[in-house]
Amino acid sequence: MTQSIKPRCIPLDLSSGDKTTELAHRIARILNPGDVVLLEGPIGAGKTHFARSLIQSLLIEPEDVPSPTFTLVQIYDLAQCELWHADLYRLSHVDEVEELGLIAAFDDAICLVEWPEKLGELRPETALTLRLSVDPCEENCRHAELEWTCDTWDGRLKGLQE
Ligand SMILES: Nc1ncnc2c1ncn2[C@@H]1O[C@H](COP(=O)(O)OP(=O)(O)OP(=O)(O)O)[C@@H](O)[C@H]1O
Ligand SMILES: [Mg+2]
Repeated sequence: MTQSIKPRCIPLDLSSGDKTTELAHRIARILNPGDVVLLEGPIGAGKTHFARSLIQSLLIEPEDVPSPTFTLVQIYDLAQCELWHADLYRLSHVDEVEELGLIAAFDDAICLVEWPEKLGELRPETALTLRLSVDPCEENCRHAELEWTCDTWDGRLKGLQE
């Protein structure tokens, strides 16, 4: 008999860009090599804003964090490992994910992936998903859900529950 894995979910309201930055900094502090964070949400939801804030808080020397919309991936050297920031929106075929080296990076880098829907079956089951949506009335307000199924996130995310 196959066991169903129940997803755990934390809903969060992010009333401004600064609140999203604050969340990114908190998540940054709990990440280890081999962790994958999948960033879901429509265009302009704040996926890059979140990723940029997270990366900037981990960089040893400050540097620009451009959106990887055209390069597909940007790689940063952190003290303990590489950090891969990927935007798969422009990916034309799922085979390109392997060619980019992203699947290998999932094992030992910290990976932040925008448009993870493009991964199809290559989506890592152990990942943490951040799902962002835009509030229809408040321009700078975003609604977020952090979702995961893998036990390794339970303790690490405990403090985020409001
Ligand atoms: N609460 C908020 N959280 C995140 N971003 C916000 C918030 N309020 C306003 N913004 C703004 O919304 C914009 C989000 O743009 P961003 O490039 O991060 O979106 P995206 O989800 O990466 O889009 P794309 O799918 O095109 O890559 C930024 O200009 C950011 O400053
Ligand atoms: Mg983006």
